[in-house]
Amino acid sequence: MRRHPIIQLVAIGAIASAIGIVLALWINWFPADAAKQDQPIDTLYDVLMIVSIPIFVLVMTVILYSAWAFRMRPGQENEDGPPIHGNTRLEVFWTAIPAIILVSLCSYAYAVLNDIEKVHADELVVKVQAIQFAWSFEYPQAGGRPVVSNQLYLPKDKPVRFDIQSKDVLHDFWVPAFRVKIDAVPGITTRLRVTPTRIGIYPVVCAELCGLGHSVMRSTAHVLSPAAFDRWLASKRTPAVNAGGGAGGGDRQPSQKQLIALGRTTFIGDGGCGACHTLADAGTTGTTGPDLDRALRGQSEDEIHTDIVDPDETIAPGYTAGIMPPSFEQTLSAQQLDGLVAYLATVSK
Ligand code: CUA
Repeated sequence: MRRHPIIQLVAIGAIASAIGIVLALWINWFPADAAKQDQPIDTLYDVLMIVSIPIFVLVMTVILYSAWAFRMRPGQENEDGPPIHGNTRLEVFWTAIPAIILVSLCSYAYAVLNDIEKVHADELVVKVQAIQFAWSFEYPQAGGRPVVSNQLYLPKDKPVRFDIQSKDVLHDFWVPAFRVKIDAVPGITTRLRVTPTRIGIYPVVCAELCGLGHSVMRSTAHVLSPAAFDRWLASKRTPAVNAGGGAGGGDRQPSQKQLIALGRTTFIGDGGCGACHTLADAGTTGTTGPDLDRALRGQSEDEIHTDIVDPDETIAPGYTAGIMPPSFEQTLSAQQLDGLVAYLATVSK
């Protein structure tokens, strides 16, 4: 008669599992690792795959094999299978094994979580604000106004604590190169801890569907050397146009040329405008918002100012209200805003 199918099933399952595990470990799933938290998380992920693949493959193998081996043959249309009245030993077995696997994996995952969330005494605190559809990052300064930026800057090897808030709906703060992510929830502050370990530029993305502009709710994380980070922070404390202005320079009005230069830097850097807008002079090619080489032609400085601080007042044909964040008046300094207006008015003439 027919051979017992269990032996065949186990053999097919074991081979398929081995192939699956080799493939899963061979594929490089992760972006470059840029934080101390990455290695434990990547290892956890690998272990979860090694454990899950045999279970998945075994279940699929049994289903496919059974559908083929026990298919209905001509003449069996009115037959029924043998009656089964339960099998206590089998049921204890298939309840106990998954329970043991689950409890072990949960304990391991908990240990990893505990390890990556360890609190450090000398943390750098960065407040993350989410708003439809932009990020802003605040660096509290002892006895002064916080430094605010639309892009994230972090020093290498310094433990960072992110305090995350949302001004409107649910968002989710995620830097894939740091692996960890957490929701930004209106009304509460959520926390995330990361120690960047690799100098570089990494995407910041929103990982929670938050509205029409969700897919463009992006920013950039810059991991700098500690010295470069300190220089950046210092340059944000004193607006760039006044640097080198000599004695009393802080009160001097910047020249038109300085303003335009600041505007260009803001367009490419802190403002993040180039991510969504094409502008030949700045060398940006974003397509989420209107092409500014064409859209701004013939506009006055006042009109350009309104376009930036109140973007939904007039919408370029073919574009939708609510995509461009209405928060640039808060996230950019007055001088950066003046610079942007002066710069855009000049290049669009
Ligand atoms: Cu914010 Cu998606």
